[in-house]
Amino acid sequence: MVNILITGGAGFIGSNFIIHLLKKYPNYHIVNLDLLSYAGNLDNLKEISADEQNYTFIHGDICDKKLVESLFLKYQFQGVFHFAAESHVDNSIKDSSVFIQTNIVGTHTLIESARNTWFDNKNLLKNDFQDARFLHVSTDEVYGTLGKTGLFTEETPYAPNSPYSASKASSDMLVRSYYHTFGLNTVTTNCSNNYGPKQHSEKLIPTIIKNALALKNIPIYGNGENIRDWLYVLDHCKGIDLTFHSGKSGETYNIGGKNELTNIELTKKILMILDQRNPRIDGESYLEQITFVTDRLGHDKRYAIDATKIESQLSWKAEENFDSGILKTIDWYLNSLELILEKN
Ligand SMILES: NC(=O)c1ccc[n+]([C@@H]2O[C@H](COP(=O)([O-])OP(=O)(O)OC[C@H]3O[C@@H](n4cnc5c(N)ncnc54)[C@H](O)[C@@H]3O)[C@@H](O)[C@H]2O)c1
Repeated sequence: MVNILITGGAGFIGSNFIIHLLKKYPNYHIVNLDLLSYAGNLDNLKEISADEQNYTFIHGDICDKKLVESLFLKYQFQGVFHFAAESHVDNSIKDSSVFIQTNIVGTHTLIESARNTWFDNKNLLKNDFQDARFLHVSTDEVYGTLGKTGLFTEETPYAPNSPYSASKASSDMLVRSYYHTFGLNTVTTNCSNNYGPKQHSEKLIPTIIKNALALKNIPIYGNGENIRDWLYVLDHCKGIDLTFHSGKSGETYNIGGKNELTNIELTKKILMILDQRNPRIDGESYLEQITFVTDRLGHDKRYAIDATKIESQLSWKAEENFDSGILKTIDWYLNSLELILEKN
């Protein structure tokens, strides 16, 4: 059995990833270290049966050096998939302290424990860890914002604009430095906006669906013209899996769906699907609930990923198109928001 550490596995992407990994690699024993912050939810993992031998949950903080070191000592991890983070830009604008702590200090604690476990005191890789690898999950937001044209490539200079993206950029730099300084086997993925089942209700797509069904205003920042490049969460998970197993050490890989939409286009698409799938009882359209609100501070105008590197070098391709992915997502929320539906 190969012991694998996954951090933040009770969150949106981490939980989808754990289910994917458990199905695909029966020889992996997954240790999920999650603090269960407001964003973590063990219900996201309820598909895993209670007597699953290949899965262990540890409730704890990636910044807790003693705990992290004890887990590395006990399980002798051969791989780390590092998802745990504070992930919501709006929260980082209100108070960035926890972003600095979890995203920067937490990443440092993990990668330092990996180094201490995998290398001897002469900085030589121990025999048992020749293939051990640290995969860092990051975001396209580290590249800042785009104008009307152009795409983020792996060569785009970092220019983070929010405390969230600055903290992720810092963590990416730490991971990069551990490859260059110590020779730690690292890979980093920088992905565009994800959507799909199990996303926390604070994020844009769940907010649109939840507020629509609750007959509340649907808040859209500014004029709704900010553009995001949407990727179905399972396509992201498959990209992370491929990068871990076939990516080149020390490299970064952009992952994105070539699916740019303005926020207002996205909102209207979702609401028109809801009009079909779950019409309002008063016969009106959910579109009536759209409300423009004061723009987010420093709101990045446009993100768009050039995924040529992962497509050409690792044969990754987004399998889900937006029209099918958003239907699956909406259906999942319709099924899980029964309480709200009852009130509608
Ligand atoms: N959601 C996206 O669109 C997106 C896109 C690109 C990259 N990412 C990156 O992917 C990763 C996962 O994102 P997500 O959307 O699933 O986030 P999420 O907010 O849904 O989940 C984060 C998880 O981390 C856990 N966590 C938070 N602080 C912790 C700590 N100190 N110790 C241990 N666990 C802790 C939370 O409990 C939660 O389960 C993040 O690193 C994020 O930056 C997200």
